[in-house]
Amino acid sequence: MGISYDERNMSFKLDTAKVSYCMAVADGYLGHSYFGKRISDDASQLLRIKEAPYTPDKNARDKLSFMDCFPMEYPTHGTGDFRGDALKIRTAGGHRVCELRYASHEITKEKKRLPGLPATFGDKAESLKIKLADEIAGVEAELNYSIFDDNDAVMRSVSIKNVSNEDIYLERVLSAAFDMDNREYSLITLNGTWARERHIDIYPIGKGFHGVSSNRGETSHQHQPFIGIASKNISQETGEVYGVHLVYSGNFQATVYNDQFDRLRVMSGIGEDDFEWKLSPGEEFVAPEVVLVYSSEGLGGMSRTFHDLYRDHLIRGKYRELPRPVLINNWEATYFDFDDEKLVKIAEQAAKSGIEMLVMDDGWFGNRYDDNRALGDWTVNEEKLKGGLGKLTERVNALGLKFGIWFEPEMISPDSELYRAHPDWAIAVPGRKAGLCRNQYVLDITRKEIRDYVFDAVAKVLDSANIEYVKWDMNRQLADLGSLELPADRQGELSHRYVLAVYELQERLITKYPDLLLENCSGGGARFDPGMLYYSPQIWCSDDTDAIERLAIQEGTALIYPLSAMGAHVSDCPNHTVGRNTPFETRGYVALAGTFGYELDITKIPEADRKQIPAQIKMYHRYHELVAKGDYYRIASYHENRLWDAWMCVSKDKKEALLTFIQVVGRPNHHSRIVRLSGLDPDKKYRLLSFDMENAEEKIISEVCLKGDTLMNAGLVIPQLWGDNKGLLIHLVSEG
Ligand code: GLA
Repeated sequence: MGISYDERNMSFKLDTAKVSYCMAVADGYLGHSYFGKRISDDASQLLRIKEAPYTPDKNARDKLSFMDCFPMEYPTHGTGDFRGDALKIRTAGGHRVCELRYASHEITKEKKRLPGLPATFGDKAESLKIKLADEIAGVEAELNYSIFDDNDAVMRSVSIKNVSNEDIYLERVLSAAFDMDNREYSLITLNGTWARERHIDIYPIGKGFHGVSSNRGETSHQHQPFIGIASKNISQETGEVYGVHLVYSGNFQATVYNDQFDRLRVMSGIGEDDFEWKLSPGEEFVAPEVVLVYSSEGLGGMSRTFHDLYRDHLIRGKYRELPRPVLINNWEATYFDFDDEKLVKIAEQAAKSGIEMLVMDDGWFGNRYDDNRALGDWTVNEEKLKGGLGKLTERVNALGLKFGIWFEPEMISPDSELYRAHPDWAIAVPGRKAGLCRNQYVLDITRKEIRDYVFDAVAKVLDSANIEYVKWDMNRQLADLGSLELPADRQGELSHRYVLAVYELQERLITKYPDLLLENCSGGGARFDPGMLYYSPQIWCSDDTDAIERLAIQEGTALIYPLSAMGAHVSDCPNHTVGRNTPFETRGYVALAGTFGYELDITKIPEADRKQIPAQIKMYHRYHELVAKGDYYRIASYHENRLWDAWMCVSKDKKEALLTFIQVVGRPNHHSRIVRLSGLDPDKKYRLLSFDMENAEEKIISEVCLKGDTLMNAGLVIPQLWGDNKGLLIHLVSEG
């Protein structure tokens, strides 16, 4: 691993164990020469500067043709590179042209944190800073690259400085761009809607622009700030794939442009819709980090690099290492219809079953009897919780359970004390009635006094009782953008300032309460992004808790996120979202691939299901470490085959592994299925065990142990299960 500079070629090379990322300066322009499997040389010849129409200094007549094909590392607007640009400025004179030339560079043995923004971190890092400048516009761009000693990802970020004497407006500042020849690549995106988040899409990259974006003020249910560029016939373990993931929680754009010469330009950064940033002389704008992952070991190789990176270099706090308490959340159990007695009854039964924490969801504050009111009034509704929060937490704690609570701190209901006192605290354009969503407005937390109110309101509740977990929700998109505080020429900053305000609030929260377990949420999974992972080790995946729907959601999520980050619960049947019935056992297997918990009225579910809970919790404790810390291998995708699903978690030392197999559709007169496993040590002998739910213990499936090479190449026989939506776990433990 290391970063080097070759003065002869003015070339830069970043090497991780498996990956190289190369750039070189040609005629003052910083070009992108290579990103891919590790190579020995610097690849500067791939800039093709000897090809017609030659470099501008030798042939100024055709500068535009050069600009339109040179693989610019950080393309800018208006100079004849028509393939999309990462930086678009507007000068005081109203001009948008910017031409960045290499100025200097620096290589260091550390990775600096990004001010006010989430970013990967780690002690054993190397970084490269390349300064580019446009002397006429008075703009400097600092391109930052970092690598860690134990991971193959390359991190990029950018900051733009105004070194002129006049104001400059940034109309677009993307965080990364790189060019490469198209080799019949396909684009991978993660898309969906509420209750159907992050389904995987793969499609061939035709000519022109392709990609995903959000202009909803948050990451969104609809798209993930990720694109993958995959070789033809990509599989889980073979083929090449590039993954590009933005560490950000607001508007984004992630695109690929396939140009006239069949070259691809990949770009990622803050969405330019609703974005403008004024830079006064001397000011600097820091754009969020982008993670670039290259894998020559298929999609699985990419997933594992992302998982390790996020687990080791993004997630913080004590729960990064610790198993998360098995929680029971009352949302699907009671919705708004609860009081202290109901919650205590749930807690009593939960305690008997071995559940470790009660989470009180929406509805405990103000006059919040439904979702039409009271957001912003963060005082306990004592009609529901007699004796207040202190009393309730004491009762819950006395049962041996931790206590957690739900907030939606960024919101304000028009029917709330807060709105009556401060109608001007909601984001709106003066003179226009802002649109409602779930009957609520968004607080303008970019204003300090509002941010302080929000923080103090949350802190007051947390200080009033023994609260060990917070679910931080956010249930609407941003619209009607208007700030009462910002001047006219800074109104375009509101969306980004909003995201920075969320980050500041969460940073304050986890700093003041370092032992708190924070779970982010946004109407399910609309803010499932690496930005939020910097503050909370887990994020609620989706409001769809149906185990079968969850297969696709969790598969898409696990393409880039570690399983330890995915909020997943066992809920009641028929499932509240789809009405499907799934065996309790299967619901447990699917939730085991996430944080694991319950979202049901444990006092009301069928006795047979309730009886299974202690066994499921034992199962969780038996396998959670493997799930949370192991390597993830996808074996089959129900999303693709519509019949069955399977994945594996393999310990880093390959001494044990867990196979989860879900048969969604039972078929008559079918043989057993031979499933080829992955990720095992070919030379190790594995004993096969299953988890017996009846007795809550493992049992040996067969006396015969099989070697890893047999299990991976020949496969393992999985019997046809009786019925739909059935599942089983197989634990593989190496002998000796
Ligand atoms: C969102 C969350 C749910 C629940 C409700 C409460 O939809 O995703 O889990 O907390 O809000 O209103």
